[in-house]
Formats: sequence, structure tokens, C-alpha cells
Amino acid sequence: MTPNPRKILVTSALPYANGAIHIGHLVEYIQTDIWVRYQKLRGHECYYVCADDAHGTPIMLRAQQEQITPEQLIGRVYQEHTADFSGFAIQFDNYHSTHSPENQHFANLIYQRLNSKGYILRKQISQAYDPVKQMFLPDRFIRGECPRCGAADQYGDSCEVCGATYAPTDLKNPRSALSGATPEERESEHFFVNLSDFQDMLSTWANQGALQEEVINKLNEWFETGLQPWDVSRDAPYFGFEIPDQPNKYFYVWLDAPIGYMASFKNLCDKKGLDFDSFWGADSDAELYHFIGKDIIYFHALFWPAMLTGADFRKPTALCVHGFLTVNGQKMSKSRGTFIMARTYLEHLNPEYLRYYFAAKLNGKVEDIDLSLEDFQNRVNADLVGKVVNIASRCAGFITKRFNSQLAAQLPDPELYQQFLARADAIAEAYEVRDYARGVREIMALADRANQYIDEYKPWVLAKEEGKDAELQAVCTQGLNLFRVLLGYLAPIVPVMEEKVEQFFACPLTWAPEPLLAHNIEKFTPLMQRVERKDIDAMIDASKDSLAATMPAPEAASAPAVAIDPIADTIDYELFSKVDLRIAEIVNAEHVDKAKKLLRLTLNIGEDKPRTVFAGIKEAYQPEDLIGRLTVMVANLAPRQMPFGLSEGMVLAAGPGKKDLWILSPDTGAQAGMRVK
Ligand code: MSP
Ligand code: ZN
Repeated sequence: MTPNPRKILVTSALPYANGAIHIGHLVEYIQTDIWVRYQKLRGHECYYVCADDAHGTPIMLRAQQEQITPEQLIGRVYQEHTADFSGFAIQFDNYHSTHSPENQHFANLIYQRLNSKGYILRKQISQAYDPVKQMFLPDRFIRGECPRCGAADQYGDSCEVCGATYAPTDLKNPRSALSGATPEERESEHFFVNLSDFQDMLSTWANQGALQEEVINKLNEWFETGLQPWDVSRDAPYFGFEIPDQPNKYFYVWLDAPIGYMASFKNLCDKKGLDFDSFWGADSDAELYHFIGKDIIYFHALFWPAMLTGADFRKPTALCVHGFLTVNGQKMSKSRGTFIMARTYLEHLNPEYLRYYFAAKLNGKVEDIDLSLEDFQNRVNADLVGKVVNIASRCAGFITKRFNSQLAAQLPDPELYQQFLARADAIAEAYEVRDYARGVREIMALADRANQYIDEYKPWVLAKEEGKDAELQAVCTQGLNLFRVLLGYLAPIVPVMEEKVEQFFACPLTWAPEPLLAHNIEKFTPLMQRVERKDIDAMIDASKDSLAATMPAPEAASAPAVAIDPIADTIDYELFSKVDLRIAEIVNAEHVDKAKKLLRLTLNIGEDKPRTVFAGIKEAYQPEDLIGRLTVMVANLAPRQMPFGLSEGMVLAAGPGKKDLWILSPDTGAQAGMRVK
């Protein structure tokens, strides 16, 4: 079979056990699941494990608020999470919990090994304490007035109004978000992992080439600042594991969370008789990949390899980091109905639409990805339904009705079939490097080719002609076999469709298969319906309530709410900083035939070639009045094909519109190409 089977262990980040899975999470689980299915399809020994991240203060408080035990809460959420994942055909080999005996075992073991080698420091620290709740308060649970701008009701770590960051002790009139009491400063002894002991090792590991460039850059920044000791203990009351021989001291949730990867795998080993050490031992020859979001790089690229190394385990082969999901270009928002829960999605739409759409967008980089609902509908309908499924539906009926379900004994165009197989390596490479977008483009180009073939031979015409039976059967056999190759390539992305197609062919799908000839197929049933706008709209409507139902504030109703909405209708600095604004000199301006509002501008922005931009400013300016003037342009806007030509950016103007629009004049001291800040 596979010449060199690899041993691969893959994880996704462990979702917190206090909230439902949403479509943002699904970027990661779908990305990972596709990769794992691909590896398995290619015959590698690959395991995919995950678990609920069940410890920490928010989970303890959430259970109190619901008047249940934390164990009851995490038991219920476990059921919800696993049901959501299976609804999206995410196929874990094991899904465990960090609140498990295996995890306690490894957390203790790792801690004890670190401790015995002198990597654990102890320090007295002073922290806010809630005298009513009788507990230390994490920063998120302290609110007060911003020390910089005075805004009321801000979090203990940063101000949402002016963006200042500070220590909770800097807040004016601080109070506990749990009880409303004024917090006291109290001392307590904490345990720290001395990360600086690992800095050289981490820097070598990070720069050995297995990480994404964006991640390496981030890490090198952190190395330059120097690594601080990491606080890994919390005082009671806390929902977690008590530190061995340290009554009332608990492991901080982020200590035992990544250990949950090991624990889940150990649990699988015990069920299946696999050899744990050959995957986790310091000299393991297996590959280990952690798929994570960009918000948790620090934990996985610094803390985790340090803990593993300090405790004599192997380090990860690589981290596979993805960006965040936006919907219609904006942060998910409950007021816009775009904070969509996995469950809500499943109630309205086919999960494979989303699997396909994410695949078509994921390129293996740390970039954020956008779910534009209109594009989602168009893309799925055009590609999956209109191109791929269409191939089979145009051929299958003739084989069933006219040839007793039997495929012809030969392909009429074996060369075309070979061309399809010849793309296997390129598609494989795209999967391997998680550039699914590239793989999907390859596959869709082949789907176009298959449809062209059918268009050329027109089975529906042959079917009506005398004496064309053999040709009809041959053409449909060719079409169906091309379809089968495509479904083999697409299988990791659409596993449910894969199964239906296997039933249809009465034969398993494989990667780059031999053609199926003189073989009996089953009756063709529709493989996928089109995405309907009304279902998308219903899902958005339902999402306007579903968040409120699933995320009440974690404390009793009388206490101030701790969960807050992201501020609606603002962009964060990161998004803003992506916009490349430049001074542009208008070197030419002309009318555009048949366009009422547009002028064609030729712009010098200090690059070798001038840019062409179509701007809707014809009512405000005569072209000749514009030549030689300056304007501000968005230089990195994706080029757009317009009926009149390609527009390579956008110019900015001020004013209400129509004839009342102004652009910069030439006497501002600005020069073409300058960046605008
Ligand atoms: N419990 C921690 C992970 C511990 S791993 C040892 C955690 N949980 S989480 O539920 O907040 O997030 C789980 C994963 O989902 C993370 O990798 C996170 O980056 C990812 N995502 C959560 N929201 C997301 C988006 N909106 N978009 C893309 N990924 C997102 O962090
Ligand atoms: Zn402020």
C-alpha cells in the first residue's frame, strides 16, 4: 500500500467546557479533520485526539450560577460538544476531558519532574481578593474606572473605551464583578515555571524551520523581550487538580490543558492497545502536530515545549496555526446574528457546505478568514452542486436505465482519465501543506474539464439517436469515472458525500483509482441540494437569540454581568493596520464610455507602474481638472474586474457625494507614494 507509512498524532485545541461550539471554533476542527482524513486516506497511521478543557474559574462560577456541580456542568457540555462535532463529521479517534484520571496522572508527573530538576520557583505575590466570595479574583473579574480616561465599568486588564492596558491595581474604585465588594490586596505564595531556563532550547526549536513564518517572527519578538516566569498555581477555591503535597493550591488551567492532549491519547492507547511512549517519548519517531488559533500561540510555542522538554518528553513536530473567522467582513456579532452556534447552523444548513467553504478559503497561513454569506451561497452552489455533482447527474441515469446499471468495459478517452490522475501529486501537496484553497482550485479546474467533455459528447443527444448505444454508454462511463477521481480527491472535505458516492458506485473511493469498468452501479440519488438564501436568513434570525440563551452572565442575576459583547461596528487596530493608504498623484483622468458616474484615473503611487482606478467622481470633477492633483488611495484593495477594465484600488474623497465631493489639492506638501498614517 503506502510505501512509507508515517506515524502521526494530531490535535486540535481543547474547547472550554463552559460554552457551546460556534462557527469560529469550527474553522479549526474542520481544518484539522480534513488534514487527518487526508493522511488516513493516503494510508498513514494517523490519530486525531481532542478533549474538553474543563478546568478554571469561569467553569467553577458558571456551575455555581446554574446551581449544579462543576462535574455536572462539564458532563452536560461534553455531550453537547461531541454532538456538535459529529454533526459536522469531525471524526476524532478520541475525545476526552482534562478532568480525567489520565490527565491528573500526567499533570502530576510533569510537575514533579519539573520540580525535581529545579525548574519550579516559588514567589509571594499580591493579588485582589474578594472578601465576600472569599476568593482571589482573576483580572477579568475586577471592574472599575479606567486610570487613563476615567471610563466606568472597565475590566481589570484593559479599557475598552481608550484602549489603555494596566494592572488591576491601577483601576479607580475597583470592585468585584462577582459580589460588587471592594477587593482587598492579599498575599499568597504562587508556583512558577522558570521559562528563561528554556529560552535557548525554545529559540533553536522555533527557528529550525517547522513553524509558519508569521509564528517564527512572533516568537523571535518574544525572545527579544525575554521570557518571564510563568505562574502555574491558583489558590482555592478553584476547579482543577490540587498540586501534589500542596493543600489548597491548584494547577492553573493552562498547565493541565495541553497535557490533556497526552491524556486523551493515553486513554485511546488503553482502549486500542497502542504504544504511548512511541508517540511521546523523548526519542519518538512519530510526528506530532497541534492545530491551534493565533490567540494561543504563546501557550503552545513557549510553555508547552518547555514543559515537555523539562519533563523528558518529545516536542511537537510543528504547530499549525490559523487565523480568526469573520462573518461578512466583521467580527462575529450577536446583534447582527452572525455569532452562529454550531447547533443553530446544523438546524438550517448542510454541514458539508461549511466544510467546503472553509476548505476553499484556508491556505495554511495565519491569516483571518471571512465567511461572506453571499459568497458562501454562490460558491457552494457553483462548485459543489453546479460543477461536481452535476457531472454524475448528467451521466448516471443513462447507465441505470439503458444499460442495466452497467458501466462500459472500456474508457473512450483514457488519456483524459490519465490527465485527471496526473494532478494527484499537486493536490496531495496542497493538502499536506494545508493549502486547501489551492487543492480546491485544482479539483474545480478538473471538474470544469469533465463538464466540457460531457458538453462535447452530449449524452442526452446520443440517447435519442439510433445506433449510438455503445457511444452513449462509453461517454457516461467516462464521465462517471472522472467524477469518481474527483470525489476521491474531495473526500477529506466532504466525507458524507463520499459515503453516498461509494454506495452509488458500490465500491470504495480511493486516491487516484483505477477506472471502474464493466461494473454495476447502484441507483443515483441526489448527492447535495443547492444552498437556499431563505435557510441562511433563517439561521441568522435564529442566531439573534441563540447567544443570549447559551451565554448568560456567569453569576447570579443581581451581580454585574461579566460576559460583554464585543463593541459593535468598530474594527480593531490589527484590521485597520492592514489598510495601505497612499498619496496618489493623478497623472491622467478620462471619461469612461457609457459610464454615468465613473472616471478612469491613472495614478502614480511611487511604484514602477501606474495604477488604474475607476472612481465614481464624475459628477464632481471634470477629468482635466483632476490631472496633477493628489488624492489618498487604498493601495492594497484586491483588484476588481469591472465591465470597463480592471480597477486596481480605490481613491478616497470627502463629502456627501454626487457633485459635493473633494479630493486633496496639490499644495499639501504630500508626495506621490507617501504612506498615510
Ligand atoms: N481551552 C483553550 C485551548 C486549550 S488547548 C490546550 C481555548 N479554548 S477556546 O474554546 O477558546 O478555543 C478553542 C480553539 O478555537 C482555539 O484554537 C481558538 O483559537 C479557536 N477559536 C475560537 N474562536 C475562534 C474564531 N472566531 N475563529 C477561529 N478560531 C477560533 O482557547
Ligand atoms: Zn480608558
